[in-house]
Amino acid sequence: MHARRLADRMTRIRRLRPLGWVAFLVAVGGCGQSTGQAAAHGTAATDQGAGQWSTHGRDAGLTYFSPLSDIDTSNVHRLGFAWEYRLATNRGLEATPIVVNGVMYTSGPWGLVYALNAATGQEIWTFDPHNDTSRGRYACCDFVNRGVEIFKGRVYVASFDGRLFSLDGKTGRKIWETDTIVDRRLPYTSTGAPQVAGDVVVIGNAGGDVGTGAVRGYVSALDLETGHLRWRFYTVPACEATSQDVDQQRARETWPADCSLRAPGGGTVWDGLAYDEKLKLVYIGTGNAAPYYRRTKVKGRVYDDLYVSSIVALKASTGHVAWYYQTTPGDMWDYDATAKMVLADLTIHGRRRSVLMQAAKNGFFYVIDRRTGEVLSAKPYAEQNWALGMDKKFRPIPSPAVDYGDSPKLVVPSTAGAHTSAPMSFDRITGLVYIPVLEAQNILVNLETNPGALVKHLDGGFATAFVPFDDAYHKEDYTPILGPLPDVSPRPILRNVLRAWDPIAQRVVWEQETWRGLAVFPGGVMSTAANLVFQGNVDGRLTVLEASTGRLLKSIDTGSAIITAPMTYRINGIQYVAVMAGWGGSMMSMTFPKGSAPYSYQNIGRILAFRLDGSTETPKPEPRIESPITQPETVPPRDAVERGQKLFIVNCGRCHGQGPAINPDLTRPTFGSEHPQVFRSIVLNGALVTGGMGRFDDTLSRADVDDIYAYITDVRWQQFKAERLKTSPAQK
Ligand code: HEC
Repeated sequence: MHARRLADRMTRIRRLRPLGWVAFLVAVGGCGQSTGQAAAHGTAATDQGAGQWSTHGRDAGLTYFSPLSDIDTSNVHRLGFAWEYRLATNRGLEATPIVVNGVMYTSGPWGLVYALNAATGQEIWTFDPHNDTSRGRYACCDFVNRGVEIFKGRVYVASFDGRLFSLDGKTGRKIWETDTIVDRRLPYTSTGAPQVAGDVVVIGNAGGDVGTGAVRGYVSALDLETGHLRWRFYTVPACEATSQDVDQQRARETWPADCSLRAPGGGTVWDGLAYDEKLKLVYIGTGNAAPYYRRTKVKGRVYDDLYVSSIVALKASTGHVAWYYQTTPGDMWDYDATAKMVLADLTIHGRRRSVLMQAAKNGFFYVIDRRTGEVLSAKPYAEQNWALGMDKKFRPIPSPAVDYGDSPKLVVPSTAGAHTSAPMSFDRITGLVYIPVLEAQNILVNLETNPGALVKHLDGGFATAFVPFDDAYHKEDYTPILGPLPDVSPRPILRNVLRAWDPIAQRVVWEQETWRGLAVFPGGVMSTAANLVFQGNVDGRLTVLEASTGRLLKSIDTGSAIITAPMTYRINGIQYVAVMAGWGGSMMSMTFPKGSAPYSYQNIGRILAFRLDGSTETPKPEPRIESPITQPETVPPRDAVERGQKLFIVNCGRCHGQGPAINPDLTRPTFGSEHPQVFRSIVLNGALVTGGMGRFDDTLSRADVDDIYAYITDVRWQQFKAERLKTSPAQK
């Protein structure tokens, strides 16, 4: 029996996890784990106004811009480490902390909440929503959480399993909790930050990339005081066209009438929400249609599929549509319009306009009048090949060259989008928007017409396969699987750039390359009134650039990959810059590429704070240890390996890859799963369910799991032999 060994390992590793760790902290009296030299004692007085950072984007407009200017271009070289707080998680961190009245509030994976003394990093309280972790299986992209909302002394947060909480900001005590999931049989999860809008708090959910496309996106508006549902808005209509609701009726007409052809699905609101207090409008950004590839033409008619890939303005009091703009009608490329939206006032052609800005996944930057929904301009801020242009009403003219219904097509931007959830920043002084851009392309394959594409190297599932158009593309011969491939003449681009964008002229002012190689998400951006732009990177650097020119002024090596935006605040006259650091959050950031921080250091979640004349050394996490590859005990039968491979791609490949990664590399087990009975107890009986590894006994039989085990054993053999060859070539 290996149960003992498994149990030992599990206790060791579980201590890193939020649930166990919070329980541990409570047991020892909740003392914080902050280190460093910040010295503010007593009641820390955050400078009112300028010194605060009161929403995840700092202000109501979610600009990620601070008026603070104590740290400026002349002294930023003195920026050094102030304190760190460890989050006891090894998953992605995507929230930007809020600081109000000297207290830092933020969230980690699964929707755990942390309240810290913002001057010292000392923990004040933590809150654990105690998730149903079996829903971890529905994560398309890690168990992340994108932040809390603070309003009138209360903290609002969504748990991963889809409950919304109102907490007392002083104590972390729960005031109310409401389940926002309409059907728990479907792969709904919740990862976005809630948005207070008048006397309701609005929250969306995710799930449009998982399963068969049955998820219908929606947002729920709950009463701030009681948590009772006030209204719910569905972003895609119900199948039955019986609704009297004009908003739903309008949407229904944009989908095929016959649901057996294609039932409405997708449109999940998993990130961007915003609110205009004066207009009393809630803005929501909606995700892709599900499944991705659908014949947009049925009997010669093109279907738009409202309200997927759209920006929709809803009346905060009723949830009815005030206006909508669909960024990608008939989307089949995973072009969510969910990126965070910035609300600002711009002078365009001599007229002051209240606008909403979004750099959408589809590569276009939109400036929209947020009162009327009139699109003022829309220009590509990154390379794209899906739209030939825009008509007068800003409806994109789709290119036939990217319809991958019958044959694979090269599509730019990739399904990861040119810009997604990492915050962009609008600098009120330079007037520029700083966009963290991912330049990547991919080949999309319709698995209905090309079922053979569901093989190794192709990230399959959900009726569409993706071939990353990178260097591997040139090494692998995909022709036998995919047939003739599209023209590969454009050089593969695969890099991250920070692009300073003039939103009025709609053009690039400057840009800096921040990463080249394997597609990874660039870090979010913050700017300040002192002509500074701050950005974290996958390689662990926190960089500070001159906002007007892009000149690099300072770089701090943190040893942790950063995907969210830094933020800044002032307490007792000291300006701090803080950032959450920890890798994860999307399918492609599950692996740790060479050169990334988690490739060298453990991917421990941290909050890092900096100040002028802080320490010149920023502490780094402990080095990453790789489990050794061991010789498998059996040689699995060939037919089992082949069956297992297919089952693996469909059920497991989304989370488990090979090499160093956020999820275990199953060929280098750490939980004893090299033993078949342990493997079965994990996959069928949920032995690791608290760590987010769901049980699969509802969809997989014991024989299926044994086939998957056979496949993994086969890969282990190949790796074992390759490794042995490397260390002792003579034994060939
Ligand atoms: C949504 C993501 C996700 C999916 C899908 C998923 N897993 Fe996991 N798996 C995890 C996570 C997270 C862990 C680590 C759990 C922990 O730390 O306790 C894990 C751990 C494991 C382990 C333990 C590995 C070790 O080091 O010993 C095995 C075995 C495993 N998974 C098998 C599978 C198989 C087989 C499938 C498909 C049927 C699958 N997983 C699908 C997320 C996933």
